[in-house]
Amino acid sequence: MDETAPIRDFEKLLRETIGLSMETVGASVIRHALKRRMTACAIPDLHAYWAFVTESPAERQELVDAVIVPETWFFRDREAFGAMVRHLREHRTGNRPLRLLSLPCSTGEEPYSIAMALLDAGFPDGSFQIDAIDISTRNLVHAERAIYGKNSFRGTDIAFRDRYFEACDGGFRPHDIVRRHVRFRLGNVLATATNAGQEAYDVAFCRNLLIYFDRETQGAALIRLRQMLADDGLLLVGPAESGLPPLLGFASVRFPRAFAFVKAQAARVKPAEPPAARKPPPAPAKAAPLLQAKPAAPPPTPRPFAQKAPLAAPSAPASDRAAASLAGIERAADAGRLAEVSAAAERHIAEFGPSPDAFYWLGLAHDAADAMEDAMRNYRKALYLAPDHQRALAQLRLLQQRRGDHSGAKALADRLDRLTKRSGT
Ligand SMILES: C[S@@+](CC[C@H](N)C(=O)[O-])C[C@H]1O[C@@H](n2cnc3c(N)ncnc32)[C@H](O)[C@@H]1O
Repeated sequence: MDETAPIRDFEKLLRETIGLSMETVGASVIRHALKRRMTACAIPDLHAYWAFVTESPAERQELVDAVIVPETWFFRDREAFGAMVRHLREHRTGNRPLRLLSLPCSTGEEPYSIAMALLDAGFPDGSFQIDAIDISTRNLVHAERAIYGKNSFRGTDIAFRDRYFEACDGGFRPHDIVRRHVRFRLGNVLATATNAGQEAYDVAFCRNLLIYFDRETQGAALIRLRQMLADDGLLLVGPAESGLPPLLGFASVRFPRAFAFVKAQAARVKPAEPPAARKPPPAPAKAAPLLQAKPAAPPPTPRPFAQKAPLAAPSAPASDRAAASLAGIERAADAGRLAEVSAAAERHIAEFGPSPDAFYWLGLAHDAADAMEDAMRNYRKALYLAPDHQRALAQLRLLQQRRGDHSGAKALADRLDRLTKRSGT
């Protein structure tokens, strides 16, 4: 059964609306999200679901929520917050409230960390305002509710929790003084109004989003961020994204491990057009301001969206079967049976959905077969689902080194280093 064509329509829709690059995240992530949404809507037919999605902005939002990765935690890549404080101390003039942006803010850990870092640094209550924007309504509901479990507090230095949180049912909640500095809003980095009529931001955090975009979309997003940032503003990106801003008219601030940039002198460095600049996304629709992609061409003859039947005995819980399947793949890899690894990892993804470990094993099998591009693609898919997947990071770093991408390899080595320190391994 050929389901490639309709899946491509969904891929295109997601690329046009949220900038998701299939090369990075892989079709199985989309297939899995589709399966979940089709089950939730009780629509078993892929074409009928396509028709529904193109008519319903609310369902497009649900599909986006199903496909995005919300991974985040408090004071992630801590040095960025130090760079922000230093920059604001050095550049602050006058008494107007500072304006900061966290885009994407995911479930709120990043903007609340910004508020805590500024309060810790002595910026008075009310002297700053943080706009926190994300494309996922589900994440924003979580962020507004602001109850965080242990996964949001990683690493050994979590003293900030005693200072700024109270224990509550289900975890910890930031104090009012932290929460009132953050304003959450639904928005798309590719469609956000570029601050017309508003003051520009003094600091913009745009971390761990650009990695999921293709080059063209990365360029479009960075141009928007540049427009939203004050002339002497600071941009912070994620560790894997630090090679991008210099291509778009930013200069590194060289604050170790902060991945911080300022606008290069406008007179000296003209921002380069992104390769084949994408036309700006259409104006937001009223019902769902974010998901304004035009419906694609009418779907061809309806064909059911075939899901492969589970292979193992239905009596075993799926999580047990998935764990057993991964253990089998690892045994095959240990024994050097790489063709088997590859086939079993593909089967695993088809049966249980996208899995960072399965992508890692697939990457390794390609790696062993010297298929470098395929290997890198699969390691990146693993990292999309689990940004802290140490083995995928390590392998990807080696490959980047082999390709002569020393700055990329160095960024990954630093990331691994931090992870190792954090986990104490
Ligand atoms: C991995 S989280 C990063 C959160 C935080 N910045 C951090 O570094 O911890 C990625 C977030 O990007 C959001 N996102 C994906 N595409 C987006 C877009 N086009 N515009 C705004 N947010 C987007 C997702 O909803 C998700 O919450």
